[in-house]
Amino acid sequence: MKLWGGRFTKETDQMVYEFQSSINFDKRFYAQDISGSIAHVTMLAKQHILTDEERDKIIDGLTGIKEDIDSGKLVIGQAQEDIHSFVESHLIDRVGDVGKKLHTGRSRNDQVALDMKLYTREQVGEVDSLLKELLTSLLHIMEENTETYMPGFTHLQKAQPVTLAHHFGAYFEMFKRDRSRMADIKKRMNTCPLGSGALAGTTYPLDREYTASLLGFDGPTLNSMDSVSDRDYLIEFLSALSTIMMHLSRFCEEIIIWNSNEYRFVEIDDAYSTGSSIMPQKKNPDIAELLRGKTGRVYGALMSLLTTMKGLPLAYNKDMQEDKEMAFDAMDTVKGCLILFNGMVSTMRFNKPVMAASAQNGFTNATDAADYLVNHSVPFRDAHGIIGQLVLLCIEKNISLDELPLEEYKKISPVFEQDIYEAISLKTCVEKRLTIGAPGKAAMDSIITIYKNYLTQE
Ligand code: ARG
Repeated sequence: MKLWGGRFTKETDQMVYEFQSSINFDKRFYAQDISGSIAHVTMLAKQHILTDEERDKIIDGLTGIKEDIDSGKLVIGQAQEDIHSFVESHLIDRVGDVGKKLHTGRSRNDQVALDMKLYTREQVGEVDSLLKELLTSLLHIMEENTETYMPGFTHLQKAQPVTLAHHFGAYFEMFKRDRSRMADIKKRMNTCPLGSGALAGTTYPLDREYTASLLGFDGPTLNSMDSVSDRDYLIEFLSALSTIMMHLSRFCEEIIIWNSNEYRFVEIDDAYSTGSSIMPQKKNPDIAELLRGKTGRVYGALMSLLTTMKGLPLAYNKDMQEDKEMAFDAMDTVKGCLILFNGMVSTMRFNKPVMAASAQNGFTNATDAADYLVNHSVPFRDAHGIIGQLVLLCIEKNISLDELPLEEYKKISPVFEQDIYEAISLKTCVEKRLTIGAPGKAAMDSIITIYKNYLTQE
């Protein structure tokens, strides 16, 4: 059944019909479409636009359709062009002419705006829960590794020693911000477009506040033209999803490096690795690579919708139907990636001795050696030069600063005493870093307490 055959004298060309049809992908939000319709008729009856009896018949019919789709008894095929036509025609088949009253005071334009918003709002909640699960796993790893020393890098060159807890804490912050973006989006998007009609509202005395409250919105949208043409909230969501993927991708890149034969900081569990068809020795970090790779398609969805919306005149245009497929793909992709990443990271093994040895060997304590001199009244710039010379000497001798004999230190500066070794030990270098946000255990422990409270409260 077409909802709009009346003013046409010819059948739609078959290719045109298929080209403009959206049922293949908008069937995904049949449940939202039906709950929107139930709220709509409930409001129509309250406003005496429908009788209570008509309302009940329609709601019964809609509920039956929902149950039958849920159970697989009713299959959504190609016969209707979109989910709205599908539900309405099945309703009329089930309850007769009264079903034809469902669309009173409504257009598919405000209907689809509502359906997509309801669907997206749910997805925002699901992504938020998955982020929270990931944060819980990360915090667990952090708690166990506040004294697991490893090198911190800049330019991918060893810089200063940190701990595994501190490194993971950086990602904790990123995913925490991602969650706060979910909360922002939800707050800003939570207004109900239903009752905006095609673009200019309606002459029926609809109670839009009531419909909005039935559907869990904070209130109705305040401009009917904007209501049917706004996809900002979806752009915001796709942008936030892109940021999540960017974070996951950075984390995956590090895990791939750490898992490499050269680094061996971590070992990805067999369940999250794959082999090679030709090289028997291989165990590849494919899951981390795929997660990194899938970032592209999520960015693609964002660019696609931004481009679709650019230059569209008010109000509804069919271009907007293109808001769905790639957005759905992005939502599925990000949810899948969050689940897999969580599994991979929680089963990964950390090679602590290798991490500590790496931190020990890369002159990551050079800044602390300079600070030792500063504490003995040498100006920092001079101290920097002195340690630079000592590093050069160590490189020539192929030893670390910890292994350089005291007389060699003293040759360059008489200020050095035996306590230099204590001052530049890996443990001292990390444990003395106690500013807020630094890796020293005491500083890290207080941040972990903040994170624990955060996860119980939000
Ligand atoms: N399938 C359409 C969409 O997704 C529904 C709205 C149709 N409205 C219209 N005036 N043709 O945007």
